[in-house]
Amino acid sequence: MKVLPHQSHFRQLINLLLDNTCVATLIIMAALQKVYVVGVGLTKFVKPRGLVDYPDLGFEAGVKALLDAGINYDEVQQGIACYVYGDSTCGQRVFYRFGMTQIPIYNVNNNCSTGSSGIYLARQLISHNAADCILVVGFEKMFPGSLKTNFPDRTPPNDRTVAMMRATRGFSDTTPRAPQTFGNAGREYMEKYGATADDFAEIARINHAHSAKNPYSQFRDVYSLEQIKNSPMVHAPLTKLQCCPTSDGGAAAVIVSEKWLEAHPHLKSQAILIAGQHMATDSPALYSRSAIDLVGMEMTRTAARVAMSEAGITAADVKVCELHDCFSANEMITIDGLGLSAPGKAHELVRAGGITFGGQVVVNPSGGLISKGHPLGATGLAQCAELCWHLRGWATNRHVEGARYALQHNLGLGGAAVVTVYKRADGKLNGLVEDVAGVSKSKYNPAVEAREPTQEDVATVISRTKSSEWMVTEKKIQAQL
Ligand SMILES: *[C@@H]1O[C@H](CO)[C@@H](O)[C@H](O)[C@H]1NC(C)=O
Repeated sequence: MKVLPHQSHFRQLINLLLDNTCVATLIIMAALQKVYVVGVGLTKFVKPRGLVDYPDLGFEAGVKALLDAGINYDEVQQGIACYVYGDSTCGQRVFYRFGMTQIPIYNVNNNCSTGSSGIYLARQLISHNAADCILVVGFEKMFPGSLKTNFPDRTPPNDRTVAMMRATRGFSDTTPRAPQTFGNAGREYMEKYGATADDFAEIARINHAHSAKNPYSQFRDVYSLEQIKNSPMVHAPLTKLQCCPTSDGGAAAVIVSEKWLEAHPHLKSQAILIAGQHMATDSPALYSRSAIDLVGMEMTRTAARVAMSEAGITAADVKVCELHDCFSANEMITIDGLGLSAPGKAHELVRAGGITFGGQVVVNPSGGLISKGHPLGATGLAQCAELCWHLRGWATNRHVEGARYALQHNLGLGGAAVVTVYKRADGKLNGLVEDVAGVSKSKYNPAVEAREPTQEDVATVISRTKSSEWMVTEKKIQAQL
């Protein structure tokens, strides 16, 4: 068929636009809605002893997030449930207690980055005008002890990375796999850049010190460097106090569009903008034979680059950061991967006091996964809650001075890394709020006090018209005992 002149011009124009990614990006960006976090909530994280169950963990966290946003479940247009261990549709089991409003509910599983994958999905939906108000709830009821395979009769998703580990640094059947994998990355950082075992212990010391101020943290004890170094060796350089524990816990966030926020102007003072965000999966670098690459360094780098460029910032603009310290070794390489330090210099930043109060950036003011615990599906949402409180100026007992941007990094092997940049809706610095209880919709300061919701709290947030007695009259409303 003969191409008419005007058609070919049109094609040329389209090709020009497609070739010019900058223009194409601008055109897409113009149509996207801004996305905000207006409510957050979490349960205390506790050692898994089979005493709490996921419907209570998810429900308590969700009730708190709805209370924090001051809204009723009838306003929620879609639900996203985040968990790794459990049968299909656990999300509905949790959400039906808020109401059976027939909204779409998704069940998300992305290993340790599950919670932030839920936030990412919510933002994708809202920014593309598919919804205006989404409740994301993460929860995890874990088995005591280290992570295990649950489906021994089929190909494990990580079989190739385990084979690579065997072929490079070896594999011990007597040590749990995760500390070996991340510990090897730590060893490589020592060999390549000159970090020492003390630098890894110092990272854990700082996280434990921060945890004393976080009422939701599983461990709140403070340790000396000697105590960290002298705790039982798991896989050098990682001692036990440098490894996160498994935990039961729940965390939730209410995520909304700019249009929705305009219709709820009283929430503007607590709304936190997701100024930039990206999820990256693995590149072929995963199999470069480097132990650092084998724990997803390239995912972290890519997600950080794209998220920060969307927000129009560099790592130097970040004053407060929650990052994925499942092991001190992963915090070390992540400081580097996010660009918080110069390449190969993360240990120098640690030594210079650069990752705690008074330093360049406060990393993991919550105490991080190392102290707080790591209920896989809840972790990314708990990081989000911590950073929202910091930007609101509500983290009064662990306030980070002069923060305009907060950075979140959540990593799952298998794999996915989600990096998020948060900013206040008014773009201002995070001034300390004197009377949080006076402005908080929950009437207390949830950043410094881990209260449990009451029956009245539940009554205010559950659906007014679409509740079933079969779900609502359940015995417990609190996850804690
Ligand atoms: C999930 O993450 C854990 C902890 O990092 C890791 O040990 C495990 O291999 C991962 N699971 C899969 C299936 O990749």
